Amino acid sequence: MLPSACLIKNISQLLFDINIRTIHRLSPAMSKFNLPERYVGNDKSVWTEYIQLAAQYKPLNLGQGFPDFHTVDHVRKALLTVATSDNPLLNQYTRGFGHPRLVNAIAKLYSKVLDRNIDPNAEVLVTVGAYEALYASLQGHTQPGDEWIVIEPFYDCYEPMIRSAGGVPRFIALKPTKTTGIVTSADWVFDRKEMESLFNAKTKGIIINTPHNPVGKVFTRDELDFIANLAKKWNTLVVSDEVYEWIVYQPAQHIRIASLPDMYERTITIGSAGKTFSVTGWKIGWAYGPANLLRNLQVVHQNSVYTCATPLQEAVAMGFEEELKKYGQPDSYFTSLAVELLPKRDYMAKFLTEVGMSPTIPEGGYFMMANWRALECNVQLDEESDQYRDYKFTKWMTKNVGVQGIPPSAFYGEEHKHLGEENVRYCFIKKDENLQQAADILLKWKSQQTKTKL
Ligand SMILES: Cc1ncc(COP(=O)(O)O)c(C=O)c1O
Repeated sequence: MLPSACLIKNISQLLFDINIRTIHRLSPAMSKFNLPERYVGNDKSVWTEYIQLAAQYKPLNLGQGFPDFHTVDHVRKALLTVATSDNPLLNQYTRGFGHPRLVNAIAKLYSKVLDRNIDPNAEVLVTVGAYEALYASLQGHTQPGDEWIVIEPFYDCYEPMIRSAGGVPRFIALKPTKTTGIVTSADWVFDRKEMESLFNAKTKGIIINTPHNPVGKVFTRDELDFIANLAKKWNTLVVSDEVYEWIVYQPAQHIRIASLPDMYERTITIGSAGKTFSVTGWKIGWAYGPANLLRNLQVVHQNSVYTCATPLQEAVAMGFEEELKKYGQPDSYFTSLAVELLPKRDYMAKFLTEVGMSPTIPEGGYFMMANWRALECNVQLDEESDQYRDYKFTKWMTKNVGVQGIPPSAFYGEEHKHLGEENVRYCFIKKDENLQQAADILLKWKSQQTKTKL
């Protein structure tokens, strides 16, 4: 956008804000339409802001987490088959807690991986993406004042979801034990004493995310045992966000906390078809766990969303059925996606290092955190007015260099935002040519900087 157009846009936004405030001051009757108290403070979103930024400056977008290439053929074909099916009922409402064919497929898969019999009708809930599964878990299990332990950096919706349900988030940060040489996500750990000190009689639960977004950490058996023992000691829930469960780079191994001794009873595990089959726009997710815990989620679901899209659920079910046939084999998408992503991960780590950043090599997922501190003298942070340096860095890079990342301070509670300030999060589930283009842009920019300094 031209600078003058920008100025006009900013001025009109300012006038709009003043107008709204004036309406509220002058007319108490209008305050009746203010944002409800439980959402105040939850109205900012890094996604809304950065999607708008990308639309305005059209950078090479390595920000939001979605693939820019097609998913596996059988999943796309499944949706085509459903859309052209002779069965008219596939376009009508289906069972509210999950389309029968899909809950059966989900129960079959997790019965196999957990080696227990999961009841498709009582222990599985299909939701609008993992997002709704998180929402239903937190709404359905939070009384006012309940505490939830949240590991930072965290998928940003956890905090507003806890707060709007009347809960209190208690944060604990993963911290890298080293910052020089090759850093991997295994080097990011939580302090065990600090974790222990957060558990108390008010703790309702802990949210874990493995494989982790944005660090890429795959929690070890020992770390999960430690958390599980505290959950048992304090009789708390565990909400385990495992949307990247199939994207793990060897030798790391994904361990489901629900599979640990006596943990299924207190764990709600969350998954996503968007991440499992690289179709984030389908927005089909699920939660599974013991019937008594799932019941609360069903109540939230039936009083908000009620039921999810039938054709998409049918197609996801067909995708699972196909994958169940190939389970454990190299041509299974559950195996092949990580194999396909590994060279992309390594390529990104290489070019970010060449540019002068220090990336953390992820053991899972498709995001990479990179420390940009060494580039500080190459960017004009003071041209941006944001509070946090990672926001300044990512905005400046989007506008002036043309590559967009996400500021990780958005994934920390207020008190710890400074811990994310020297990092940027990039996504590498992108076509090779787009990663190559990002590398070319960054390296060209870096070499121009070096020449200017000589
Ligand atoms: C850790 C994590 N949890 C949940 C979600 C939401 O998944 P869905 O798109 O299925 O709602 C995401 C999406 O990026 C995520 O990264």
